[in-house]
Formats: sequence, C-alpha cells, structure tokens
Amino acid sequence: MIKIFDTTLRDGEQSPGCSMNLYEKIQMAKQLESLGVDIIEAGFAIASKGDFEAVREIAKTVRNCTIASLARAVKKDIDYAWEAVKYAKKPRIHTFIATSDIHMKYKLKMQPEEVIKKAVEMVKYAKKYCEDVEFSAEDATRSNPLFLAKIYQEVINAGATVINIPDTVGYIMPHEYYNFIKTITSNMSNADKADISVHCHDDLGMAVANTLSAIKAGATQFECTINGIGERAGNAALEEVVMALKTRKDYFNQTCYIDTTQIMRTSKLLSTITGVQVQPNKSIVGDNAFAHESGIHQHGVLEEKSTYEIMTPESVGLNKNKMVLGKHSGKHAFKDRVKSLGYDLSEEIIVKLFKQFKDLADKKKNVFDKDIEALISGKTIKIPSVYTLNRFVINSGNTISSTATIALEKDSITIEDSAMGDGPVDAAFKALEKLVSMDLVLENYSLNSITEGKDAQGEAIIKLRHNSKIYTGRGLSTDIVEASIKAYIAAVNKVMFDI
Ligand code: KIV
Ligand code: ZN
Repeated sequence: MIKIFDTTLRDGEQSPGCSMNLYEKIQMAKQLESLGVDIIEAGFAIASKGDFEAVREIAKTVRNCTIASLARAVKKDIDYAWEAVKYAKKPRIHTFIATSDIHMKYKLKMQPEEVIKKAVEMVKYAKKYCEDVEFSAEDATRSNPLFLAKIYQEVINAGATVINIPDTVGYIMPHEYYNFIKTITSNMSNADKADISVHCHDDLGMAVANTLSAIKAGATQFECTINGIGERAGNAALEEVVMALKTRKDYFNQTCYIDTTQIMRTSKLLSTITGVQVQPNKSIVGDNAFAHESGIHQHGVLEEKSTYEIMTPESVGLNKNKMVLGKHSGKHAFKDRVKSLGYDLSEEIIVKLFKQFKDLADKKKNVFDKDIEALISGKTIKIPSVYTLNRFVINSGNTISSTATIALEKDSITIEDSAMGDGPVDAAFKALEKLVSMDLVLENYSLNSITEGKDAQGEAIIKLRHNSKIYTGRGLSTDIVEASIKAYIAAVNKVMFDI
C-alpha cells in the first residue's frame, strides 16, 4: 500500500496565481480527505499568519488524514509547525535542510558534518512534540548519495518516521532516480525503519515518470499535487501517478486509498478556487483526455471501448450522462441530481442553488451536469457578500464608446455609478472601480465557456491585486458581461473579507 502525501496547499500554493484564502484551503482540504489522500501538507506554518491559520484550521477540521506542516531545520519553525498541527488527530512535522554541495556552500554556508548535526538535532527537537516527523534533504538529487545515506541513517536513529528524497530542481532522469534510491537505501542499515518518500518537480517534464520510477525502487510514499501545480514547472500530478498505478497494476503491483472517482471533482475545485485551468490535453483531467476526435477512433470505441480507452471516464469521475434537468424540474429532482453527482450539501445551500438553477434553466435550453457542478463549486465556498449586483446597463457598439452603469447593494443601500471604457467589460470594470473605490489592480482576466453551444454559460475568472496579495473571483452567467461583473464583485468580496 503506497502512501500519498498531497502538498497542493503548500508546494502547490507556492506557484504563481495559485494562492488561496483560509476558506478555500479548508474547502480543498476537505475534498482531499474525500479523495482519500493519506497526508495533507497544509502549509508552512511560520511563513505567514495566513499559512499558520490555514494549517491550524485544517488540523482541527480534517479527521481522516495526517496533517503536516513544513518547517526549516530551525527551532522557531518547528515551534510554529507544532502550534499549528497539534490539533490534528494525526499530526506530522516535516522538517528539511539542504544537502547538495551547491546549497550547503552558497545557501547554508555550512560544512556537511554541521548539516548532519543540525538535521539530527532538529529531528530530535521535533520529536519532543510529535511522534510523526518527516525529514527532507532538500536538493537531494544533486547531493552525494553516500552522504545522504549517512544523514538519513542518523535522522532515523534520531526518530524520523519518514525520510524524503526530493528532486527539488527537477533535474534527475527516471532510471538515474531508480539507481540513486537503491544506492541510498542499500547503504543504510535502517532504511526499513522509516517510510521512504519521494518528491519530484517537473522542470524537465519528468516529475510523474520519476515518481513512478522511485516507486519501483521501493519508495513507500510519494508527494504530489492536484493538477501538478507547484513551484516553477510544478510537482508530480497526483491524478497521473494514481491512474498510472491503477491502470498498470500488472507492472507496479501497488494499491492506495484514493477514490479515483473523486479525481475530476478535486481537479475542478482547485481550478475554480485558483482560476488556473488545466490545458485541454492534460492527462486524466484535461477536457480532451477522454475525447475521441478521429473517425477511426470513434468507430473503434463505439465497437469496443478498450480499442482506444485504457481507463474509463467513469473511473476518474466523469459522468457520461451529460443531459440533466430542465426548467420544469422540481427541487426534489434537483436535490437528487446534486446527490448523485456526489455532493452532500446543506438544505440552505440547496435552496440557493435551486434558485440559481431555475434562473439558468430559463436562459439556457439544456442544463448539463457541468453547469450544475459549476454552480455548486461557486456556492460551497462561503465568503460573505459585502457587495452584491443589483442591476447593470451596458451601451456598446462599433461606432460608440462603451458605457456601463452598475448598481450594487452594500449594507442594504443601493449605490450606482457609470463609466466609459474600451469595450463593455472594460467599461463595467471601470464603473465597479469607482463604486468600490479601493486600491485594486487588475492582474488577469479570462473567460471560458462551461459547456458547448451558443447559450453556454460563460465563466469569468478575474485576479485583482490589493496590497501585494492576489484575490481570485469567479462569475458565471449566460451573459459574459454579467459573468465578468460577478467575477469582479466576488474578488472584491474576498478583499473585503481579508481586511
Ligand atoms: O522541492 C523540495 O525540495 C521541497 C522540500 C521542502 C520537500 O519542497
Ligand atoms: Zn518541492
């Protein structure tokens, strides 16, 4: 049984554009729990107040996974990590120090023997707080494997329960990683006394291949993120490693606790929260991953699925039954559908969603599962709505300047303003800027359609910068200007929630 250590909320959150607020992290952590990961690295407690709170709240909320916090091999970091994870049913402190010559010489300015001493001291220090201590040798794959064998041997003697061999800079090749791990473990007398973990970055596109190779070499835990987000080019994508293990069980002979039917939902939730979409041809979770375009392939799949499908769309949680309810459907049918899509929502949220569903069914001929899921992922993330949209009017054309007049509700008072702009969306954003009168910089704006067809719902994602922090807002509507306005307001509400 291989253990899965998910670091979407720590290494993943370090990637540009992927920052999440407290509620979003809790939402994501709960979904990771439903997915069945063994360990959630919830953050780097000492890094910021926000990180500390997120680790602490996730530790209090999630009961079925081990909750880890990262800490440098420094007492203060370990103190913070413990203060945050101590509420967990199964807490873990994850401490690290660099071991490559380059890092020891230029970053740490320490001799190898000092690094070993520090690592042992800090594992012992962490062990006073917590039974479960993971030790990572940063930049392991550019370190001397015999030096690593020595440091790992000593930290295990000091109480480490997991030793991690990260490919921090995404440098190693799969067959080299295999031999590297074998060399390390065969030069230790106690390798079987701890879990052997791997953590791969994707700088050369090898993260998943390296992780799989490491599993073949005897790794008992792998570290990964949803959609492969993470520092620079990202980390090994959980969904890719898991589906490779499942699809090629004949080769790997490994099992894990992941409920693969939760994969799509977890991927989508992350994209919704961060506003970072996966590319259409991404393995497992990309829009085209199960689409058969060419006639020959379509014919083959219709005759016999296994001609071109090595795994079923259902196995990753894709629902083939796209057509769902219509405008005559009642709340009961809607609730049943939401349940069969796998969501267990409170009555209060169902009532709100049902109203939105009815509005949507009025505007749109066919309401698909994807539409319903899009509504759900917006609703389950609870951020108080300081501003809500009351109404808007847009005047636009190819011979006039666009103008927008928008009315918002704030504290039961309606406020209204107008602005001109370069097109309807720009005019709307300028009117909103005037209305909320805050220091906001538009960092990014994108528009996607949730389903196909001319009446498809548009999904607008906006990223606003306020005081050097990025806030992501998402808006849905069959009208793209309305979707954009809603996204802007959602981002502003997040800013309001934070200040
Ligand atoms: O990439 C890396 O080396 C890390 C460690 C902190 C495990 O993220
Ligand atoms: Zn990393």
